[in-house]
Amino acid sequence: LSAIYFDHAATTPPHEDVLAAMIPLLRENFGNPSSIHALGQAARAAVDSAREKVAALIGASPSEIAFTSGGTEANNIAIFGAAVPASRETGRNHIVTSAIEHHSVFDACHVLEGRGFDVTYLPVDRLARVDPNRFARQSRTGPAWSR
Ligand SMILES: Cc1ncc(COP(=O)(O)O)c(C=O)c1O
Repeated sequence: LSAIYFDHAATTPPHEDVLAAMIPLLRENFGNPSSIHALGQAARAAVDSAREKVAALIGASPSEIAFTSGGTEANNIAIFGAAVPASRETGRNHIVTSAIEHHSVFDACHVLEGRGFDVTYLPVDRLARVDPNRFARQSRTGPAWSR
């Protein structure tokens, strides 16, 4: 009996091209990109090159690309990184999210609730969709980045 893997949202096997690109980095060029010695600087060059390629793919600037260890770290950076400065700069502290988010989103929202943020958890339909009209009604002044 062979297993069928249905959890690609959590993690997915790397493509052969990814493995081919990564193996030399893991085997030989394994330096810490923050190290000043040659091995570190070679690793830094590889990370910078990857950052430029990802930025070009999505029309961003390389300085806008942050590599993270995974989804939880990325969600924390995005949520705290958007909510805390926006609240400081504008006084706005209302977050609208859906009722079916991953715990990394829920937990960040709960922490912010404890710090005085007001969080609305919108329900979803049977296809996991948020009603955009309901979102528009909840979104009191529009997103913080729309000013
Ligand atoms: C939608 C979603 N967000 C965040 C995460 C958390 O990712 P990680 O386990 O890489 O921290 C997962 C993991 O399954 C996920 O499915």
